[in-house]
Amino acid sequence: MSTAVKVLPGGAAVALAQPHPHGGPAIPVMAAAPRAFHAAMPGYHPTPLRRARGAAARVGVGEVLVKDESERLGLPSFKVLGASWAVYRALVEHLGATLEEIPSFARLEAEVARARPLALAAATDGNHGRAVAHMAALLGLEARIYVPADMVPARVAAIEAEGASVTVVDGGYDDAVARSARDAGERCLVISDTSWPGYERVPAWVIEGYSTIFAEIDEALEREQHAQPDVVVVPIGVGALAAAVVRHYWSLPGGRARLVGVEPTSAACVLESVGAGRIVTLEHPQTSIMAGLNCATPSLIAWPLVSGGIDLYLAVPDSLIAEATRVLAGDGIVAGECGAAGLAAMIALSDDPELAEARGMLGLGETSRMLLICTEGATDPEAYRRLTGADA
Ligand SMILES: Cc1ncc(COP(=O)(O)O)c(C=O)c1O
Repeated sequence: MSTAVKVLPGGAAVALAQPHPHGGPAIPVMAAAPRAFHAAMPGYHPTPLRRARGAAARVGVGEVLVKDESERLGLPSFKVLGASWAVYRALVEHLGATLEEIPSFARLEAEVARARPLALAAATDGNHGRAVAHMAALLGLEARIYVPADMVPARVAAIEAEGASVTVVDGGYDDAVARSARDAGERCLVISDTSWPGYERVPAWVIEGYSTIFAEIDEALEREQHAQPDVVVVPIGVGALAAAVVRHYWSLPGGRARLVGVEPTSAACVLESVGAGRIVTLEHPQTSIMAGLNCATPSLIAWPLVSGGIDLYLAVPDSLIAEATRVLAGDGIVAGECGAAGLAAMIALSDDPELAEARGMLGLGETSRMLLICTEGATDPEAYRRLTGADA
């Protein structure tokens, strides 16, 4: 079923989902919980759930909570949660072992010796590839990371600093994905966060790995006897993180939070696909400063969850990112461009009279409790300085 997409004068675009069928999308069952695996990794601690009073005042809601993923297992984005769980599951399988035989990261470190020499390959807009490279370095494996032609030098350097070889591919993220897939073989495992026909298991583990974010949020809320949010806002690239959001919030008992997915206007592949009623690939180049969201095609396995479980799809222009970044800085949160995307969308929603229907559907008002996932810190420090006038 296709959905009407409305493009607004300021450049934002919006699509309200059709009412979801009773019960919502089918939620895949997880064979094992990534949370315990992550908790036993070196340097693990839950990331903070912060109250952002300036952000709440700016968008006119009762409360904004921000899950701050600017430091996660030693890296500046949430992505290592998916990469680490997928690398673990892929290596256990490659070693011909079971999860019971290799139950932890420490055990994997010991067992992986018999798989060497072995490489991990991935395509990236920055964060996923850096996370895969980091995992390879921890495990003494080679990393081959493929990046789009327009990646900024700071992000390339950060991947190389993990000891990976970085290959710049002529084209965008989809071209880098296609190139990385060619490396698959006995001595190279492809660890992609997106999926395509015939390549679905590894990216499913990536989605599972992100569940740790939501387990931590629920624990923090429970500890403080705080109610669940009634609106959850998530940035979308290929839709793997959004799939994890749908999976979690459609599974919680009680009233379900309304879910908002946010993309850049120049890379709104999920919004376009929702409009078309099927997965489509964007023809034009993806050039947003929200680099991690510069994707042309939604992930095949994320699609049923993302198309069936999100309530509102919003695409925002880059011009809204600077203010969102500054408001979050005022609340003590260092947000990179993707990390600020959710607040940018909420600013558009609160300011634009054309978005009244969307606001109403979310029930936004002064008692609303909003949760934003700030998915990255200042992964391009130069850009952060330009946007906020401050150092990260
Ligand atoms: C910082 C950041 N936020 C959000 C996303 C979007 O995640 P997904 O591609 O799973 O939709 C990405 C993806 O690379 C990212 O790097």
